[in-house]
Amino acid sequence: MEVTIEKLDHYGRGITRINDKICFVDNALPTEIVEIKNLEEKKKYFQAETEKIIKPSINRITPICPFAKECGGCQLLHMDFASENKWKEQKIKEIMKKFANISENKIQNIIAESPYNYRNKITLHQQKNKVGLYKNKTNEIVEITECALIDKKLNSLINNIKTKDETIILRIGNKTDEIAISTDKKKIITSYIGDKKYRVSLQSFFQINSKITEKIYEAIKETLKTKEAQNVLDLYCGTGTIGIYVSDVVKKVLGIESYKEAIEDAKENKKMNQVNNITFKLGKVENLTQEITKIYDTVIIDPPRSGLDKKVVDKLLEIIPKNILYVSCDPITLARDLNLLQKKYEIEYIRPYNMFPRTYHVECLCLLKLR
Ligand SMILES: C[S@@+](CC[C@H](N)C(=O)[O-])C[C@H]1O[C@@H](n2cnc3c(N)ncnc32)[C@H](O)[C@@H]1O
Repeated sequence: MEVTIEKLDHYGRGITRINDKICFVDNALPTEIVEIKNLEEKKKYFQAETEKIIKPSINRITPICPFAKECGGCQLLHMDFASENKWKEQKIKEIMKKFANISENKIQNIIAESPYNYRNKITLHQQKNKVGLYKNKTNEIVEITECALIDKKLNSLINNIKTKDETIILRIGNKTDEIAISTDKKKIITSYIGDKKYRVSLQSFFQINSKITEKIYEAIKETLKTKEAQNVLDLYCGTGTIGIYVSDVVKKVLGIESYKEAIEDAKENKKMNQVNNITFKLGKVENLTQEITKIYDTVIIDPPRSGLDKKVVDKLLEIIPKNILYVSCDPITLARDLNLLQKKYEIEYIRPYNMFPRTYHVECLCLLKLR
């Protein structure tokens, strides 16, 4: 069957209609006419794969990755990078309008860097001497010899992995090129963001795109300077990265994080950078709401994909800090939380960052100002 693709959905799949029912088509771009295969009917939609491209889009490119078809980890390798960035901007506009009634003019232009070799970490899987990535939504291994997204130095290691472990994590430090392999004894590396140095344990969260991370942290620091922030809360602080980055321009920071190893890293990072005005607390933010008090004029939040617990939103609306900076890797939960925070806050801007090129994911930084 031949279909014409109207637009992309938020996961980068082509959208068409069959008998008035929506159909999602993998590996298809807007305006394209494609022949589809493996058509499956679900309750509310159809899904299908592209068999053959009859009329390609002018934005179509040949994927640079030889494993693209099987792996499925990158949903946009067949689209040129400029179109990807435009689509991500548009996606943020649509989500913010739909779930939080935020007008388009609040969404700034996307900030992007290199489309490939930007990742400082990869998690590989091993089954019966096959090393690779999981095929999309399965536990089936796609053997790979390289990945287009990861740092070139990590790529050179993939073919020499000698371990029986089922999960293998490779991580490289920004500007230090120190490498940690989960089978090795050396599981801790140092990494720089700007002029700050961070110790990162293998399992602790650390942003995977160092160049974009530096841009986000720099924007946060500039905002804190402009807003003359004094007492700052850094919620979901991981290894203390943001709080330490901005510590030079504020009076005091408290970081809260639930992962024990990350808090240990954070304390070490404080020492390494000779920062004296930051403290850390271990625990879930939603269980430590008594720490979220009126002494804080500025709150930085960088939660996992699930966004904020309702208790945390309520607490913020109670202590009403002057400014909230929200870093998010999931626009849907960001929109949900902004919708609640808008009760007392005005959105100054939402700025998308292409932290995850060639995939459908996008990071946002949002500044909220007390009305
Ligand atoms: C997106 S990361 C941000 C880390 C840090 N701000 C950074 O830029 O590296 C989210 C962090 O929240 C932590 N986390 C997840 N759920 C949490 C919770 N309920 N309370 C506190 N921290 C949590 C995770 O361990 C992770 O370190």
